[in-house]
Amino acid sequence: MPDGSRLELGTATASYQIEGGVADDGRGVSIWDTFAARPGTVRDGRDGTVACDSYHRYAEDADLVAGLGLDWYRFSIAWPRVLPEGSGRVETRGLDYYDRVVDALLERGVKPAATLYHWDLPQPLEDAGGWLARETPAAFADYAEVVYARLGDRVGLWATHNEPWCAAYLGYAAGVHAPGRREGGAAHRAAHHLMLGHAWASERLHSLGGSAGGCDVGIVLNLAPIRPGRSEAVELADQIDAVRNRVWLDPLAQGAYDDGLLRVAPELADPGLVRPGDLEAIHDSADWVGINYYTPVRPDVVVAGRPPHPERDAYPGTDPFDLVVPEPRTAIGWEIDATGLTDVLRETAARIDRPLLVMENGAACSDEVIAEGRVADDDRIIYLRDHLAAVDVARAEGVDVRGYVVWTLLDNFEWAEGYTKTFGLVHIDHTDQRRTPKASYAWLAGVVRERSSSL
Ligand code: NOJ
Repeated sequence: MPDGSRLELGTATASYQIEGGVADDGRGVSIWDTFAARPGTVRDGRDGTVACDSYHRYAEDADLVAGLGLDWYRFSIAWPRVLPEGSGRVETRGLDYYDRVVDALLERGVKPAATLYHWDLPQPLEDAGGWLARETPAAFADYAEVVYARLGDRVGLWATHNEPWCAAYLGYAAGVHAPGRREGGAAHRAAHHLMLGHAWASERLHSLGGSAGGCDVGIVLNLAPIRPGRSEAVELADQIDAVRNRVWLDPLAQGAYDDGLLRVAPELADPGLVRPGDLEAIHDSADWVGINYYTPVRPDVVVAGRPPHPERDAYPGTDPFDLVVPEPRTAIGWEIDATGLTDVLRETAARIDRPLLVMENGAACSDEVIAEGRVADDDRIIYLRDHLAAVDVARAEGVDVRGYVVWTLLDNFEWAEGYTKTFGLVHIDHTDQRRTPKASYAWLAGVVRERSSSL
């Protein structure tokens, strides 16, 4: 865990987005393999079968991280590589891969940060109910233990979930992410089970850790500043805040779901779902909170008289395209506003007394290849520069933010957008997997050098 004496820097990736090798070494099927194979789910009809081939090129990727001079590399572990059926039989060849990744990083002086769940649920668990079933968080804690037993001596920073809002609300309400379900109430149920999985995994890791430098377990949330522009949008803004921010932070910080949230998500008042002991287990279960920030949420259009929309109305803020998105925007259509990052850090610090880490921030850009070996992405440089400055502002105000991680190292499989949106510091030619560092890569390496020489 960074001690906070300076802002530590890193870059991040996720297993399904970069690894490929989906049939290698006994890996099981994940919900993203299944979902992406369904026509119409991914913009360009492609999937993560090959992705950036990092399953085979991890050493080259580790070189790229080391070339940036960063403190951290945040990667995720594919549950179906480790437990192909989701529970039970362990596939040691899957663990061997992450062993190699961790050693490759350490040999190059980069600290590994592992995320246990970045959305690739083993398909057999989805078939048994997915995150709607209480068996899934139990299986998640067992999986966490297996991974920790192998990597815990070398990985000092552990995230349980990445953006559980996406897993729950995009996966079970909007249906635009795997498993692609649209069911009334399901997303709130999934949200509770995701938090329970976090709590049980965290408890397990803490009980195993301790010796080798401690065991820092946190959760990475895509918290957002919610900015209503009109007074009529204030109530909706509060509802969005409930399902986007408070549903995760309140049980962690206070061991409770608040009344405003329960009005939006009555399922969370169901004693069959939220059982005795659940909220106590979640309370205080994160040593740190990770924030992924890209853009603020502006809820105005919805109140400006759009026709009723059952899914959107049941899950306020689920569909970003129902919201106001002013200029300037990145290539994925998200508003650029670095002040939102300072705001969300400040607001989160007021809600939970834990060290904060910005675990993702970055931009999809049009990335012009101007010559062989040169990619001009000046807009990404400006975006990152301004957002890094926004983190410095929060630190100067006294917010305990200890790290800033750029999304992402490589152009990769951007979920429902396929390969059409690129966030990487490194361009990938998907015909031959050639990696070409962009202008932003050189810029970031320079920032790292400057910051370390000014210490
Ligand atoms: C957050 C997700 O964690 C990551 O997987 C995704 O690629 C980025 N946002 C950009 O959408």
